[in-house]
Amino acid sequence: MLPRLLATALSVAVVSAHLGPVHPSMYCYDGCASGTQGINYNNDDFVKPLYQMSKSDWWFHAYNNVPKYPPQAGQFLELPAGKSFTVEIASNRGETSYSFSGKFSSEWPDGGNYPEDYNVPSCITSPNMHTQNQSMAAGTAFAIAYTSDINQVTEDNLSVFTVRYHTPWKRETSYDVPADMPACPDGGCICAWGWIPNGCGQPNMYHLPYRCTVTGATSTKAIGTPQPPVWCQDDSSKCVKGPKQMLYWHQNDGDNIEVDGLDNAGQPKSPAYNMNCGFADGAQDDIFTGAGSSAPAAKVKTSSSSTSSSKSTSATPAAAKADSGSGSSSSSSPAVQKVAVAASSSSSSASPSSSSAPAPSSSSAPTCKNKRQRRKRAAEVAAGVAQHRRHAKHGF
Ligand SMILES: *[C@@H]1O[C@H](CO)[C@@H](O)[C@H](O)[C@H]1NC(C)=O
Ligand SMILES: *[C@@H]1O[C@H](CO)[C@@H](O)[C@H](O)[C@H]1NC(C)=O
Repeated sequence: MLPRLLATALSVAVVSAHLGPVHPSMYCYDGCASGTQGINYNNDDFVKPLYQMSKSDWWFHAYNNVPKYPPQAGQFLELPAGKSFTVEIASNRGETSYSFSGKFSSEWPDGGNYPEDYNVPSCITSPNMHTQNQSMAAGTAFAIAYTSDINQVTEDNLSVFTVRYHTPWKRETSYDVPADMPACPDGGCICAWGWIPNGCGQPNMYHLPYRCTVTGATSTKAIGTPQPPVWCQDDSSKCVKGPKQMLYWHQNDGDNIEVDGLDNAGQPKSPAYNMNCGFADGAQDDIFTGAGSSAPAAKVKTSSSSTSSSKSTSATPAAAKADSGSGSSSSSSPAVQKVAVAASSSSSSASPSSSSAPAPSSSSAPTCKNKRQRRKRAAEVAAGVAQHRRHAKHGF
């Protein structure tokens, strides 16, 4: 495993990888490329961007079968009503806490180390964040559909419920859940993560599915029917209020937004999960415009008690592996514990700067191998930046 990671994942991270949130509740968690067998601890099948594809290919990243590889039974992205949850945005599962005990992960999405004020005027490409620096990062979002059947989800019932400005940036990223989120059906809801970068490379799109559930729900207000967002940087009265669809852009069909001309900064308009398209940062509290929800709050298994909640948060890949027969003793992963911490604290993690938690404390002290790896990575980063500078001129 180790030689494979060093030989493939690390170079992939520099050459072609993009970013997506890794979590055991994601579709394609263990890999989904054709021929995938068993668990691919270096899985990056889900991070490939979507650009000028037909809707049947881009919807939930179907072109390489992401929706056909559901998460293991019992795995949910838990959305604590009125609090926040944390995912690990990475270019490869191998660079998160969910593979190799997190030893190839860092504070950053590709396991590398970069300055806190990382800034590359010609665009950061390692990790491939499609931005010059944190303040220019376009923003990302999670949306939810109140069905357990991924095939029942369309743009008409997938509503953005949380947005985090200035992301993707660090690996651990937190999103706030509206206090009024109603409970999901027994089998959970379907969530989706979206990102449209603001230039700095190919103007592509991300649309990834997760199985999620709302914990601690007390409200039964339903989310209304989401409307397509519109560009409203020039006139905030034009912004769509209430529930909004995710942004679908630059595909061959299925787009729900068109823009032309330049934005206020003189750059080509690029729709994104920020105020330019009417999305506030944090929990989208204005989405509960529907009729009363039919889902009774008490029905969701994982929200019934703190016991069951701690049980589900300990269901790490390691634990799942042990369940399936290896019998090795498994401890819960630090990042998952962090999710629980984030969930139990109030929504104070709302600001972009505090949303980037430090790397898991278990990431082992530097070993010779790690140092070598870092040196190698530093060289690769330098090469990547240089390569990007060349590519930037050609519109990559
Ligand atoms: C971020 O990048 C933009 C665009 O290059 C630049 O205008 C801005 O000054 C940068 N901010 C920081 C904090 O470096
Ligand atoms: C979502 O909307 C589609 C129509 O676009 C509908 O066929 C489907 O049943 C809806 N699903 C849910 C869960 O409401």
